Amino acid sequence: MKTRLSKIKNPADVSKEEDVENYVKHTLEKFGRIDGFFNNAGIEGKQNLTEDYTSEEFEKVVGINLNGVFFGMKHVLKIMKEQGEGSIVNTASVGGIRGIGNQSGYSATKHGVVGLTRNSAVEYGQFGVNINAIAPGAIMTAMVEGSLKQMDPENWEDAGKEFVSVNPMKRFGTTEEVSSLVAFLLSEAGFINGTVINIDGGQSYKY
Ligand SMILES: NC(=O)c1ccc[n+]([C@@H]2O[C@H](COP(=O)([O-])OP(=O)(O)OC[C@H]3O[C@@H](n4cnc5c(N)ncnc54)[C@H](O)[C@@H]3O)[C@@H](O)[C@H]2O)c1
Repeated sequence: MKTRLSKIKNPADVSKEEDVENYVKHTLEKFGRIDGFFNNAGIEGKQNLTEDYTSEEFEKVVGINLNGVFFGMKHVLKIMKEQGEGSIVNTASVGGIRGIGNQSGYSATKHGVVGLTRNSAVEYGQFGVNINAIAPGAIMTAMVEGSLKQMDPENWEDAGKEFVSVNPMKRFGTTEEVSSLVAFLLSEAGFINGTVINIDGGQSYKY
């Protein structure tokens, strides 16, 4: 989950359909087929109450988190349908199954990712393609560091400790734990289709 856009040669901006079409085309030219697709790019957006959440910010978050996931599925699914097999994992969030607060764009788009996942799973199962979503809780990445800095710029590390103190497992999840789940879903989970799997230490089940 860690690759930064700036380190990649000719990065694609997933909010632009032509970029997505291009990266899918290049992948096909290089490998001849697409067996697994991790549709993961996303941003948090600037935290704010709904009334103060700017329309520009909302559009930006929708462009990357929702349109980007849709464009990816649209162009990859055509190929997987022709192949008669393939697996897709979309990255939703606990914020796609619960309200978070101060994150109108993020929460709306992650709920949207869950909807896109379920809709396309129902459509493409018949073509041998399974599509699932993951709903991570707090995983220590650049995004979470940025999020904590928005909450408390001076003491963000303490804010992080407080944040995970209410998690049943009392810690952040790791990128390795998320990538193991994604690898399983992309390679060994052929009959799991249309599900949203929480990976959050049990936090979303807590009363
Ligand atoms: N870290 C968490 O706690 C957490 C929790 C729930 C969901 N998620 C989701 O996991 C995914 C990965 O996030 P992360 O935590 O690794 O954050 P991150 O900021 O480390 O990674 C986000 C990635 O998305 C890429 N990206 C951003 N805008 C893009 C664009 N327009 N086009 C192409 N790529 C773009 C970035 O380059 C980066 O590689 C996101 O969808 C995020 O919403 C993260």
